[in-house]
Amino acid sequence: MKIKTNSSFFTILFFAVFFLPTDTVYAQAKPDSLFFLESKWKDDQGNTINAHGAGILDYHNKYYLYGEIKKGKTTLVPGQNWLDYRVPAGGISCYSSSDLIHWKYEGVVLSPVTDDPQSNIDTSRVIERPKVIYNSKTKTFVMWMHLDKNDYSFAHVGVATSDKPTGPFTLKSSFLPNGNESRDMTLFKDSNERAYLIYSSENNSTMHVCQLSEDYLTTTKADKRIFVGLNREAPAMFKFRSQYYLITSGTTGWSPNQALCARTSNPLGKWSLIGNPCYGAKSETTYDSQGTFVLPLGKGKYLFMADRWNMTDLEKSGYVWLPMLVDGNSVKIKWKN
Ligand code: DGJ
Repeated sequence: MKIKTNSSFFTILFFAVFFLPTDTVYAQAKPDSLFFLESKWKDDQGNTINAHGAGILDYHNKYYLYGEIKKGKTTLVPGQNWLDYRVPAGGISCYSSSDLIHWKYEGVVLSPVTDDPQSNIDTSRVIERPKVIYNSKTKTFVMWMHLDKNDYSFAHVGVATSDKPTGPFTLKSSFLPNGNESRDMTLFKDSNERAYLIYSSENNSTMHVCQLSEDYLTTTKADKRIFVGLNREAPAMFKFRSQYYLITSGTTGWSPNQALCARTSNPLGKWSLIGNPCYGAKSETTYDSQGTFVLPLGKGKYLFMADRWNMTDLEKSGYVWLPMLVDGNSVKIKWKN
């Protein structure tokens, strides 16, 4: 497995691209402005942003970023046949912003439990890929996340709720969706308020798309196997016009690989593979990153958000955020320097 050692790899990398501001970008972003912060990406308190495997909730003219807190010494879990590097589960952080550039630290919105290895959110466990959606009927912010043991044998989802976007969130349940293993996952809320859980299952060989209950607190039996035997993870779903798109990665642990995009007119129907959305140099490794979320910015413009994992020092993992353009025929993510 390739371990990068060049110094730029250890640099937090953040692209915030407002190449054409639209109605849903609340900032007074300048047309065609491009920001590249080569050193550390800081919050309003001057601390490095710590939000990995992140997702963004767009709520009442504000963006809320939720991510994994990776802090402390990275260690290798013994007895695994893969490079199972980990840090203690640090819980979930939240930052808010009205322009996607300046982020206010909102604190730890889901705290881990300490010294209780039986708890599914103990620091000895794994808490990954939090995603938050808002349920307008119950007026509740609902967070789903991947909960696991340090050897990834537990493969549960966790569901937490809050009455505020800035938390605190309380863990309500953790379970195997429809009895299936669930590792990397995401949520997608449709314009008709229907929401879906997309999760890697069956030893990561096959992905599932499952419609959530109306309160978004649990799954329904509408659970469709997709990408059967294709070994995909890191799902990020979005919609353009009446078509749904799903970008996934391959399953190579913390090492980057090629992304793959698929499209359908019905999330619970048949998906067609449409290829790698990245192009140019390093497109075969998603520019040395792994996708986590796609944020719609309006009119076919999206922000593709990815993690640049630093597997031997996970706290130093960086972020790659790139503009993504979608039209009826193609999905394009291009490296910007
Ligand atoms: C890849 C996943 O996408 C990450 O979220 C994390 O689970 C790593 N694998 C662990 O190796």
